[in-house]
Amino acid sequence: MKVFSKKEISELEHLYKINLINSVTGIKSANLIGSISNSGIPNVSVFSSVVHFGSAPPLLGMVFRPTTVERNTYDNIKENEYYTLNAIHHSIIKDAHHTSAKYPFDVNEFEMTTLEEEYKDASYVPFVKNSPIQMLLKYVNEYKIKENGTILLLGEIQQLYINEELIQNDGFVSLTQGNVVGINGLDGYVKTELIERLPYQRPKINHQ
Ligand SMILES: Cc1cc2nc3c(=O)[nH]c(=O)nc-3n(C[C@H](O)[C@H](O)[C@H](O)COP(=O)(O)O)c2cc1C
Repeated sequence: MKVFSKKEISELEHLYKINLINSVTGIKSANLIGSISNSGIPNVSVFSSVVHFGSAPPLLGMVFRPTTVERNTYDNIKENEYYTLNAIHHSIIKDAHHTSAKYPFDVNEFEMTTLEEEYKDASYVPFVKNSPIQMLLKYVNEYKIKENGTILLLGEIQQLYINEELIQNDGFVSLTQGNVVGINGLDGYVKTELIERLPYQRPKINHQ
C-alpha cells in the first residue's frame, strides 16, 4: 500500500493533490446547475458536490468554492433564489465538463456548448433540455465553512421532473436506466451500473 501522511499530502504538487483527494472518497453525483442573473444572462455549470440533506422537506446541499473569484452560479442564486439541477446523460459529458470553464458573467454558457436551455411552466430559470432528471430548487440558507472559506448552500426542491421510465413502483429512480453518469475525482466520468437493490435491514435476532 502507498501511504501518504498528512504532511506529505500537504506537500504534494497542487494538481496531483487535488486529483488524489477528490478521487478517494468514491463516486460523486454529476449535475448541471442552471441559473440566471438579474440582468437575464443564463448560466450552466457542472457541480459534483450535491448532497442529500433530508427528504421532508426535500433539501439538497452543494458546496461552493471560496468566493474570492467571480462565481456566477453562486451570484445568480443569491440574486434570484431559484436555480435548477439537471442530471448528466452519458451523451453530453464533454459539453457538461466544458461548463467548468471560467467565462465572464456576461457570457451565456449554454451558447458555448450544444446544451440547450429549457424554460418549464413559465419558470425564468433555465433547465438543461433533455436531461432525464431535472429539478427546480429555491435557496434556503447557506453556511460558511470557516476552516477553508467554502460555502454550503441549501436549497429546497420545488418541482421535480423525471423521465417516467426511470421511476420504479416504490419510487426508486434508476440512474442506470437513464444513462446518468457519476464522477470519479474531478474529471473521470463513469457509467452507473446497478448491481442489486437490497431490502431494508433489521438487526439479527440474538446478535449479542
Ligand atoms: C467535475 C467538476 C465538478 C465540479 N464541482 C464543483 C463543486 O461542487 N463546487 C464548485 O464550487 N465548483 C465545482 N466545479 C467547478 C465549477 O464547475 C467551475 O468553477 C465553474 O467555472 C463555475 O462556473 P460559474 O462561475 O459560472 O458558476 C466543478 C468542476 C468540475 C469539472
